[in-house]
Amino acid sequence: MGFLLPIIFGVFLVFTATPPSLSQLPPTITAPAPAPIPPSELCNGIFLSYRFKLGRKIPPNETTDQPYRFESVLTVLNNGREELKEWRVFVGFRHREILISAANALIVNGTELPALVGNGTILGGYPVSDLKTAIQTAGDLKQMTAKIELVGTQFMVTPPEIPMPSNISLVNDGWLCPEPTPPTPLSKREITTCCKRDPTIKVNTTLITDKFLPRQPGDLTIMYDVVRAYDQNYLAEVTMENHNPLGRLDHWELSFDWKRDEFIQKMQGAYPTVVDATKCIFGPQSKIYTGLDFADVLTCERRPVIVDLPPTKAEDPTLGKIPSCCRNGTILPRVMDPSKSASVFTMQVSKMPPDFNRSALFPPQNWRIKGTLNPDYSCGPPVRVSPTFYPDPSGMPTNKSSFASWQIVCNITNVKTETPKCCVSFSAFFNDSIIPCNTCACGCVSETRRTCSAESPPLLIPPDALLLPFENRTSLTVAWNALKHKTIPNPMPCGDNCGVSINWHMASDYRGGWTARITIFNWGGIDFPDWFLAVQMKKPAIRGFEKAYSFNASLLSVDGGVNNTIFMEGLPGLEYLVAERDELDPKKNLRVPGKQQSVIQFSKKLTPGINVAERDGFPAKVIFNGEECLLPDVLPLASGGRRNGFITVLSYIIAIFAAAFMI
Ligand SMILES: *[C@@H]1O[C@H](CO)[C@@H](O)[C@H](O)[C@H]1NC(C)=O
Ligand SMILES: *[C@@H]1O[C@H](CO)[C@@H](O)[C@H](O)[C@H]1NC(C)=O
Ligand SMILES: *[C@@H]1O[C@H](CO)[C@@H](O)[C@H](O)[C@H]1NC(C)=O
Ligand SMILES: *[C@@H]1O[C@H](CO)[C@@H](O)[C@H](O)[C@H]1NC(C)=O
Ligand SMILES: *[C@@H]1O[C@H](CO)[C@@H](O)[C@H](O)[C@H]1NC(C)=O
Ligand SMILES: *[C@@H]1O[C@H](CO)[C@@H](O)[C@H](O)[C@H]1NC(C)=O
Ligand SMILES: *[C@@H]1O[C@H](CO)[C@@H](O)[C@H](O)[C@H]1NC(C)=O
Ligand SMILES: *[C@@H]1O[C@H](CO)[C@@H](O)[C@H](O)[C@H]1NC(C)=O
Ligand SMILES: *[C@@H]1O[C@H](CO)[C@@H](O)[C@H](O)[C@H]1NC(C)=O
Ligand SMILES: *[C@@H]1O[C@H](CO)[C@@H](O)[C@H](O)[C@H]1NC(C)=O
Ligand SMILES: *[C@@H]1O[C@H](CO)[C@@H](O)[C@H](O)[C@H]1NC(C)=O
Ligand SMILES: *[C@@H]1O[C@H](CO)[C@@H](O)[C@H](O)[C@H]1NC(C)=O
Repeated sequence: MGFLLPIIFGVFLVFTATPPSLSQLPPTITAPAPAPIPPSELCNGIFLSYRFKLGRKIPPNETTDQPYRFESVLTVLNNGREELKEWRVFVGFRHREILISAANALIVNGTELPALVGNGTILGGYPVSDLKTAIQTAGDLKQMTAKIELVGTQFMVTPPEIPMPSNISLVNDGWLCPEPTPPTPLSKREITTCCKRDPTIKVNTTLITDKFLPRQPGDLTIMYDVVRAYDQNYLAEVTMENHNPLGRLDHWELSFDWKRDEFIQKMQGAYPTVVDATKCIFGPQSKIYTGLDFADVLTCERRPVIVDLPPTKAEDPTLGKIPSCCRNGTILPRVMDPSKSASVFTMQVSKMPPDFNRSALFPPQNWRIKGTLNPDYSCGPPVRVSPTFYPDPSGMPTNKSSFASWQIVCNITNVKTETPKCCVSFSAFFNDSIIPCNTCACGCVSETRRTCSAESPPLLIPPDALLLPFENRTSLTVAWNALKHKTIPNPMPCGDNCGVSINWHMASDYRGGWTARITIFNWGGIDFPDWFLAVQMKKPAIRGFEKAYSFNASLLSVDGGVNNTIFMEGLPGLEYLVAERDELDPKKNLRVPGKQQSVIQFSKKLTPGINVAERDGFPAKVIFNGEECLLPDVLPLASGGRRNGFITVLSYIIAIFAAAFMI
């Protein structure tokens, strides 16, 4: 029956679409033309269709930029031999569309509707996201098809013209979609395509027959494991694990959307920033949970923000007692401390009808995680994976399986949406001026822009100015630049406004090697326990790395290739970079930064001929606690002939000791 209907419908279409002139021709006796087979039946893979239903003008009535409503249907049909897990379809919108609603689907990157989708968007199914095959279901179209009703606004196409997307395609791995067939005269309103398995990609059949999708790699993975399930509520264990050697979170804040009116009854190992059940009292929850005292409910926020507990709560029997919890929201790279590279909490989630069923489990959506001075992460949707095994809590030597598990993969985004939070200044033994951090390296608020210039490059400063807060450097800077016969712009350039600044000082360059002194200043108000610093050098120099004197330094590879990064952390007892504080002597009235310093030594044995002073001795990338620091635009120059004059070994030794104690 399910197959017959489209055929009948197709025949009907042919008859109604026949131009009247044809029917007036004298009848000729021919066999009736076979009904065209609907394209979905010609497809033995994943059939995609985008059908425009209607469009109409909406207010305001302005010919210059008239908005229109559109309604359309996206269909995804699995006509293949294997189940399609977590379908994702790209729809190439191109008419400045604003998507208002998408029944049974979500925008995959977690953007809330309404959303600007004028450059196209990727949709995924929700709550059902897997499409079974006809083989599995004896041809039950309901389980093989996703029909997504889209409603939105567009600006560029006037009805009766039809705003079609440029493209539709399946973005799941291992599928190839030909360009969609353009709308035919018969059906101006529909584009279709039939996606096939990419024959060049060897499909791991053991994965396909597997009931679940494999776990994916990523910079930070979040597991959502349901470890206890009841009809009306369940207990979920949330595990965040850092896999990136330079990834890190401090004071992490995790947020997600409840899509089915759930609320959090209890939590251990973490806490919501807002404890508030009023939304339940005035919402549908109070009608269902009539006997519940909502004063005991933790939060009914639709999008709760969750933070880690302080270490003092680790042994608290009601709030803590979760392994890997309660570290003030710190997640470190594995190289620093594997035991601190994950955070775990549990929460008891109360469900709402129609989900009062042990097996009706839906994870929250639109996950986001951020820290204080950390990289930006962007998270994908939860993907159902095979159950997680964890040690039996009763201490039996067996592993227990979760009831259901989802994985959320969060990757560090390279496109920086926020301004940097740290910066680098350069100096060298052959130049008495310091090149300070860039003007407004970490942003400038608009009020300060009136008293200083956000555009002028920074002025050179004498070494002693580096220890002063920017606002107290002015007189030294002016005098120094006057001495050097440099013009001083009016207004003066603004400061860098960075919480953390790092000075890279090339301390020596001699026949067999060279050294650099690195100093970290914390001008901000927060301490950095367990800080780390990663320095990527221009290619050849890294091979000469020997050691750091008062940091714990090692080489590592960030991208899985050759070692390209010097990873440094404080030695035991020095792993704490304190916040700036006001000078003890109140007469001086100066802010004093928290400070850490070390000298790094390189040899030239493996890298003969490198040009340390002019180029190779300065870092290509500096990363503090996972956050990339802004580098200056210029390098210190050597004046006259001193550039290549190596200093003697004796003066090198003096240089190291002098360098270590200079600041
Ligand atoms: C819309 O505006 C145009 C001119 O701007 C006018 O001619 C037309 O009557 C208006 N239509 C309606 C429904 O108000
Ligand atoms: C589409 O892309 C262009 C160019 O990349 C960008 O300027 C514009 O803001 C984008 N529009 C939307 C809605 O994302
Ligand atoms: C998410 O998708 C929407 C629509 O395609 C797009 O406008 C937005 O920039 C995307 N956001 C991110 C963080 O990628
Ligand atoms: C449609 O999208 C697919 C996959 O994203 C791509 O390979 C193809 O080139 C696109 N076609 C057009 C016309 O943009
Ligand atoms: C297929 O996947 C299984 C399980 O992940 C793995 O053990 C096996 O090596 C894979 N086979 C191929 C050919 O990749
Ligand atoms: C995250 O990065 C990994 C590789 O590090 C990649 O395999 C994965 O597809 C990425 N995930 C997302 C959601 O971008
Ligand atoms: C945790 O954070 C609190 C408040 O922010 C702070 O007082 C405390 O020292 C921190 N503890 C650790 C171990 O970082
Ligand atoms: C619970 O859900 C499962 C699967 O969705 C279904 O088979 C079962 O009948 C439901 N049980 C009740 C009591 O509704
Ligand atoms: C339980 O799981 C852990 C880690 O997944 C594994 O190392 C251990 O061998 C398992 N124990 C048993 C009894 O299977
Ligand atoms: C440093 O600058 C601050 C803020 O402008 C000012 O209050 C303080 O008096 C200055 N200290 C000195 C020693 O100039
Ligand atoms: C990278 O550095 C580490 C630690 O210094 C060392 O153990 C490892 O062998 C190096 N790897 C390569 C490919 O050089
Ligand atoms: C120090 O370096 C700066 C920046 O490259 C340069 O402008 C200046 O002339 C140099 N000073 C001397 C004494 O060479």
